[in-house]
Amino acid sequence: MAKINDNFLKLPGSYLFSAVAEKSAAFSAAHPDKELIKMSIGDVTLPLAPSVTKAMRAAVDEMGTAAGFHGYGPEQGYDFLREKIAEKDYIARGANISPDEIFVSDGAKSDCGNIGDIFSTDNTVAVCDPVYPVYVDTNAMAGRAGDFIGGKWSKLIYMPCVEENGFLPELPKERADIIYLCFPNNPIGVAMTKEQLKPWVDYARENNSVILYDSAYEAFITDENVPHSIYELDGAKEVAIEFRSFSKTAGFTGTRCAYTVVPHELKLGGTELNPLWNRRQCTKFNGVPYIVQRGAEAVYSDEGRRETREAIKYYLENAKIIREALTAAGFTVYGGVNAPYIWAKTPNGETSWDFFDRLLNDANVVTTPGSGFGPSGEGYVRFTSFNTRENTIKAMEKIKNMNL
Ligand code: MLT
Repeated sequence: MAKINDNFLKLPGSYLFSAVAEKSAAFSAAHPDKELIKMSIGDVTLPLAPSVTKAMRAAVDEMGTAAGFHGYGPEQGYDFLREKIAEKDYIARGANISPDEIFVSDGAKSDCGNIGDIFSTDNTVAVCDPVYPVYVDTNAMAGRAGDFIGGKWSKLIYMPCVEENGFLPELPKERADIIYLCFPNNPIGVAMTKEQLKPWVDYARENNSVILYDSAYEAFITDENVPHSIYELDGAKEVAIEFRSFSKTAGFTGTRCAYTVVPHELKLGGTELNPLWNRRQCTKFNGVPYIVQRGAEAVYSDEGRRETREAIKYYLENAKIIREALTAAGFTVYGGVNAPYIWAKTPNGETSWDFFDRLLNDANVVTTPGSGFGPSGEGYVRFTSFNTRENTIKAMEKIKNMNL
């Protein structure tokens, strides 16, 4: 008899954002007259930048000509984009990353999930708690997380990020082979300075560990001393893989383009990881469409930079509005300065899901319950700043009028 991967049977419930979407869809079906304001999944609302759509239109026209047609592209991404990324995202920041260390993909979510393919299932894995659920669920699917007992995975190392430690993880006491870090952070919205990140690079170098560094929110950094890339730190190329995305940086959530950096210096037992990821991508992935990569390239033009930065400013202003309105309404809030997420404590010690329900029913605002990101997220809800200005203000008005 064929056998399933029974690790899937250990997964509790559905994927967090699908569960939230199901709840809000059920509410809308029961109350068709009520308009919901979605501040749950971090999905952008502003249209693509004009320079991006212009480049994509030109690429569409090219594709309609014999001379400009492109079939299968390189699985790693076209050189024109890999070169721009190396130059503008890394070399410009003093991080010496070369184009052949960059792998263009259809999303940081997929890459964060797929990267496990190149690691043994025997590795011990450390995750922040609360955390982006993809890291946990994909390790559970691979059998690296053990069993889900009492709200926790038996083999995962949880690094609580709570009020007492300023929501920054502490170095694990037990040996961690693989460490996921996401900064600026999802879901809490806090950031780490270079000094705060350095001990992690040191730990990984001392322990032959690998840091999987998710930097999907780097475009939201406003503080000078917060690094945009882990490779801004000396020695990080020997221990870290970095994930980046055009989703939040340039509004590509529906367009799909991201990239992963696997430096040549990163080796385990003398084996370079870069060729392994290359082998994995060539076997399982056929590359990002030419048209999309031309759009991503346009993000690096002067015009593209200016336009996409305007959009980020808009979302950061929304974040400020949310922080200030919730604070004025009596909430304790964190994040939202170097990130698009605001982490709010529920009033009166309510559970995350109870308060999620109350926000849904009484204010018609959809958030993400903190407990969905891990046990230490209990007692919080996450707001995103990606809705329109109008809806953000409307949502805050409605919350202010709730019986808190
Ligand atoms: C989030 O809301 O945490 C993210 O938008 C989800 C994602 O990027 O997959």
